[in-house]
Amino acid sequence: MTIASIDTTARVSPETVLSVVIPTYNERGNVAELIRRLDRTLTGVAWEAIFVDDNSPDGTADALKAISRSDPRVRCIRRVGRRGLAGACIEGILSSSAAYVAVMDADLQHDETVLPAMLAKLQSGQFDLVAATRYVDGGDASSFSASRGKISRLATKITQRVLGTELSDPMSGFFMMRRASFDEMAPRLSPVGFKILLDIATASEGLRITEQAYSFGERFDGESKFSMQVGLEFLGLLLSKLSNGLLDPRFIFFAIVGATGIAVNLLVLNLALIAWPLSFQFAKTIATGFAMTSNFILNNSLTYRDRRLKGLGLLRGFIGFCLFGAIGAFTDIGLANQLYAHHELWWVAGLAGSIVGVLWNYAMSSMFIWRTR
Ligand code: GDD
Ligand code: MN
Repeated sequence: MTIASIDTTARVSPETVLSVVIPTYNERGNVAELIRRLDRTLTGVAWEAIFVDDNSPDGTADALKAISRSDPRVRCIRRVGRRGLAGACIEGILSSSAAYVAVMDADLQHDETVLPAMLAKLQSGQFDLVAATRYVDGGDASSFSASRGKISRLATKITQRVLGTELSDPMSGFFMMRRASFDEMAPRLSPVGFKILLDIATASEGLRITEQAYSFGERFDGESKFSMQVGLEFLGLLLSKLSNGLLDPRFIFFAIVGATGIAVNLLVLNLALIAWPLSFQFAKTIATGFAMTSNFILNNSLTYRDRRLKGLGLLRGFIGFCLFGAIGAFTDIGLANQLYAHHELWWVAGLAGSIVGVLWNYAMSSMFIWRTR
C-alpha cells in the first residue's frame, strides 16, 4: 500500500493536541493513578500520555502496557541499557507529533490540575514555554523535607546567579512547551542528569517563557531517585552552560575523574613506598594500576552512567580502557618530548601533551568503550 492510498477520513479519534511525557523508574504503584487524574483533568483536550521507562525492575513497563492495551491514549517506550531522567524526557518528546508537549513526574508530586491553564497560555500564541514553579505566589514546596528544601533553594540561587536565568524555579521538572520549539533545539540538549528544564530554557535565545504556580505535593508511592550523583550531574550541567556549551557535561566529568585519578596515583605511590621497600618502578606501576581502575569505575558510574557497562561488557570495557589509556600516555609523552626538544618551555610541552592525552582518552572512551556516538 502506498502512503497516498491511506484513507485519512477513517480516523476515529481527533488529532492529538497535547502529549504528556512522563519519565519512569520504579513507579509501578503510581502510573494508574496518574492516568486516572490526567483523564479527570484534561476533559475536552485531545491528549496522550507517553511514558518513558528505563527498564524498571519493578515492572512499570508491563503495568503500562497492560493499561495501553485498552486505552490507546497511553503509550510506553521501554528503553534498555540506558538510564537518565533528561534523556528519557528528550526521547519521549521527540516521539510526539502533537502541537504541545508537557513533561511531568510520575509520582504525583507535580499537580496535574494546572495543565489546562498551562495549555491555555501556550495556545494564546504569546509563549513557547510554560514552566511550573513552586517559588512564586500561589506556589508551594513545603512537602520537601527540611534538608532537601535547603538543597533545592541553594541550587536555585546558584543557578540564577551563574546563568542569569529568569526562571524562579529552574530546578523544576514540570513544564509544557510548543513541540516545534523543542524540535529545533533538541540536538543541543544534554541527556545527562535531572535538570531538563534548565537545559531547555538556556539552550536557545529568544524563547518566550512564562510561569505557572503550583504546589509541590507528596510522593504517592515508591521512592525518590534523587541522589548525590544527581547533584554532581547538575554541577556538570552548570559548568557546561558556563563554558557557553563549549564543554560537554560528559567531558567535564571525564576531566574531573581524571583529576581524581592523579590524586589516587600519588596517594597509592606514597603508601606503596612507605609500606614496603619497593623499587620506585614497581610502586609506580601499582599506583598507575589503581588509578586506571578507579578512573574506570568512576567513569562507568558517573560520566557514562546512562550507558553503564555490566558483566562481561564491564571486563571488555576495562581492558579496552587500559589499552587506549596506554596509547594515550604514549601520545602524551611523545608529543611533550617533541615540543620540549623544539621550545624548551617545560610546562607548555607538558600541558600540551596532557591535553592531547585527555582528549584522546575521552574520544576513545566515548566512541569505543561506552559508545555514546
Ligand atoms: N526513565 C527514567 N530514568 N526516569 C527516571 C529516572 C531515570 O533514570 N530517574 C528518575 N526518573 C523519574 C522518576 O520515576 C519520576 O517519575 C521522575 O523521574 C522524578 O524522579 P523523583 O525520584 O521523583 O525525583 P524528585 O522528586 O526527587 O525530584 C523531581 O522533582 C523536582 C521538583 O520538581 C525532579 O523532577 C526534579 O528535577 C525536580 O526538581
Ligand atoms: Mn518525585
